[in-house]
Amino acid sequence: MRAARCTEYGPPKGLTVTETDDPRPGPGEVLVQVHAAAVNFPDVLIVADRYQVPAALPFTPGSEFAGVVAGLGPGVSGPPVGSPVAGAVLTGAFAEQVVVPAASLRQVPDGLDMIHAAAFHVTYATAYHSLVTVGRAAAGEWAVVLGAAGGVGSAAVDIAARLGLRVVAAASAEERLAVARGLGAEAGVDYVRENLKLRVRELTGGEGAHLVIDPVGGRYAEAALRGLRRGGRFVTVGYADGEIPRIPLNLVLLKDLVVRGFEIRTVRRYAPDAVAEADRVLARLVREGMRPLVSRVHPLAGVAAALTDVAERRTTGKVVLDLTAR
Ligand SMILES: NC(=O)c1ccc[n+]([C@@H]2O[C@H](COP(=O)([O-])OP(=O)(O)OC[C@H]3O[C@@H](n4cnc5c(N)ncnc54)[C@H](OP(=O)(O)O)[C@@H]3O)[C@@H](O)[C@H]2O)c1
Repeated sequence: MRAARCTEYGPPKGLTVTETDDPRPGPGEVLVQVHAAAVNFPDVLIVADRYQVPAALPFTPGSEFAGVVAGLGPGVSGPPVGSPVAGAVLTGAFAEQVVVPAASLRQVPDGLDMIHAAAFHVTYATAYHSLVTVGRAAAGEWAVVLGAAGGVGSAAVDIAARLGLRVVAAASAEERLAVARGLGAEAGVDYVRENLKLRVRELTGGEGAHLVIDPVGGRYAEAALRGLRRGGRFVTVGYADGEIPRIPLNLVLLKDLVVRGFEIRTVRRYAPDAVAEADRVLARLVREGMRPLVSRVHPLAGVAAALTDVAERRTTGKVVLDLTAR
């Protein structure tokens, strides 16, 4: 099969596409013929050896896919060969085939094609749990979403607007804010050129926001936290800016703020009921027409370009590799 390979840690331009041996499913595992694989920011970090969970060289990157079941390992009774499935792994998805634990596979929500199914779960489930499970979002509240044109950010804007929140999108350029407005954001702040704290206060009638969803961190996190009202909630989700922010705790004390975090890899283990509820709500929203924003589709040969665009802040929504295209 053809697969992207990382033989040296570094920037994505070092990735190659080569023929490798077909994988075989072991006990408890399923072989999936991958139709599409979505790029997530952590793929860039794993290739650079900057992710919290390292991958040993050489490896095939890729953490999110959709495809059909192509074989079952010993002791596995389903899903039947030919079933459409989606899933998330640490590595291995930028390939024509991937082997995963049977228990990790998910159904493809009705109405999603393979490209959109591959792009859906990681960002939409992360955004939903950040907003609702952890962020306790309620209709009518003001939510500020940082990195609002990115993968997690665009999903958070989309879901928040559909749940009746009033969204202030924050991003680095007007055309990126326009993307967020297209997903339902009521207002936008260019956090590179404008004062995020003051603009959020203005836009929310002087009071400040109820909730911040932050997949960016770095220099923008503190300004966003300062734009919260008394009792507001700040959810830390990721650090696309590269720096893990250090927030002065007196800011939390002065306005009785709540700071929480969310992590998709472990949520199924510690909050299974919340996962079931999220799956139900997200499936309903998909039935009502919600789709992840896929801005670019590359063949597997474009893997290095696709990851470079994500690393260099040039993408909106999701970038997907089409494993069926040459
Ligand atoms: N906690 C979890 O469970 C979870 C799940 C998925 C992802 N994440 C994390 O969430 C973060 C975002 O992931 P994503 O897939 O949404 O990434 P993405 O699509 O690349 O979006 C990240 C956004 O961050 C902004 N940004 C600001 N400074 C940046 C910089 N120096 N380099 C790159 N982007 C920068 C960019 O928007 P502007 O240019 O408009 O500022 C970009 O759109 C990552 O840190 C990822 O690891 C966490």
